[in-house]
Amino acid sequence: MNIAVFGAGYVGLVTAVCLSDLGFRVQVVEKDRSKLSRLQAGISTIYEPGLEEMLVRNLGEGRLIFTDDAPLAILEAEVLFVCVGTPSRPDGSADMSQIEAVTKEIVENSLDSGYKLIVVKSTVPVGTGRWIEKMSALYAKGRRVNLEIASNPEFLREGAAVKEFMHPDRIVVGAASERGRALMEDVYRSFDCPKLFTDSHTAEIIKYAANSFLATKISYINMVSDLCEETGADVTLVAEGIGFDRRIGADFLKAGPGFGGSCFPKDLRAFAHVGRSYGLNFGLLEQVMQINRERSQRMIRKLREQLWVLGGKRIAVLGLTFKPGTDDVRETPAASVIEALLAEGASVLATDPLGIAGFREMYGSLAERISFTVSPGEALLGAHAAVIVTDWDAYRELDWADVKDRMETPVLLDGRNMLDRAEMRRLGFAFMAVGR
Ligand code: UGA
Repeated sequence: MNIAVFGAGYVGLVTAVCLSDLGFRVQVVEKDRSKLSRLQAGISTIYEPGLEEMLVRNLGEGRLIFTDDAPLAILEAEVLFVCVGTPSRPDGSADMSQIEAVTKEIVENSLDSGYKLIVVKSTVPVGTGRWIEKMSALYAKGRRVNLEIASNPEFLREGAAVKEFMHPDRIVVGAASERGRALMEDVYRSFDCPKLFTDSHTAEIIKYAANSFLATKISYINMVSDLCEETGADVTLVAEGIGFDRRIGADFLKAGPGFGGSCFPKDLRAFAHVGRSYGLNFGLLEQVMQINRERSQRMIRKLREQLWVLGGKRIAVLGLTFKPGTDDVRETPAASVIEALLAEGASVLATDPLGIAGFREMYGSLAERISFTVSPGEALLGAHAAVIVTDWDAYRELDWADVKDRMETPVLLDGRNMLDRAEMRRLGFAFMAVGR
């Protein structure tokens, strides 16, 4: 089967590389010249364990092709995955212009050709499939096109995307016709997992509903964690205690500095916007976002409790990425923590194994006001306090006894509950965790 993938961003690249590894011939259409030439040279444009080696292998074996020749890719493909971005617009809704542009290109290059299945993998609001159908008819201007639109949301987590693509929990396909469903059965034939076939509206809602629910779990436990702090309870045990209930489940109940990344914040905004646009009360999601926004202030409050005055103090921020195992800093909680520290007049030295370059690029004016080092030891030297924002393993393995001696005042805020509290106190730290 010939497959085309539009957009070599996170979703597109992982999808294309993994599908080629399953034996399909995959052409990836990417318009960004510099991205394209790096991919053609076998260099992965994102950090994702296992991806580059799989990319190089399939490129070498000729199954994976990176190109800007959209017409040829469209002509040859039977299944066309749309994986372009749907960023937030100022009102929180998803910007669909890239999806629209790909639709136009596909229609104009498949007039009078045989059946093709357009599969939307980008995260999109409910109704997108219908819009693509409508726009296809408009762009075809009365000429014959034989296109079917399907929805196939992805549930991959950054840092584990290759593994999760190859061993999914479930596959969701929203497709109307038997032919479309059969084609998607073929694409995912080698996977032994539940496969749910629905209409396209249902599949589109499943994606937003899944991400919003997971984000809700996180804000929920963060809310409970504040109560634990006020009362002397331990949120990690509360999470364990409720997580044993299979109806609740133990995952995504880690209290911390709040969720970030390219998905949860954007998808929550978009889902809340969709709800509002139908006149529905999606206020629950507004609260989830509000709790998340307040996390950084909570951390500042804790630091103030130990340090009294933050102005003029030197604070080491450990971790810039929105979670470990990635170089992605999009909507990272580190940015709001740093902003809040600077607002207090503190000076910030930030460290991260992978995120510094990305942080500098994405948060230019904020980055100009702080210093960076890849070495946590250097960041901690002479610091009045350290704040762990990302739970990189490397921080667990630091020689904390030595760190304590090198700090100006040994104040440590473990924003991810990753360190052994008793041990840190024994070493002499004024130690704070989250919700315990
Ligand atoms: C998320 C979803 O987990 C994927 O299923 C989905 O496919 C993806 O978005 C997407 O829509 O593309 P991802 O953004 O890679 O994946 O990150 P997660 O591992 O879900 O973490 C998101 C944020 O929540 C991180 O900042 C993480 O630190 C935080 N988090 C997660 C917590 O604070 N507590 C937890 O218990 C779990």
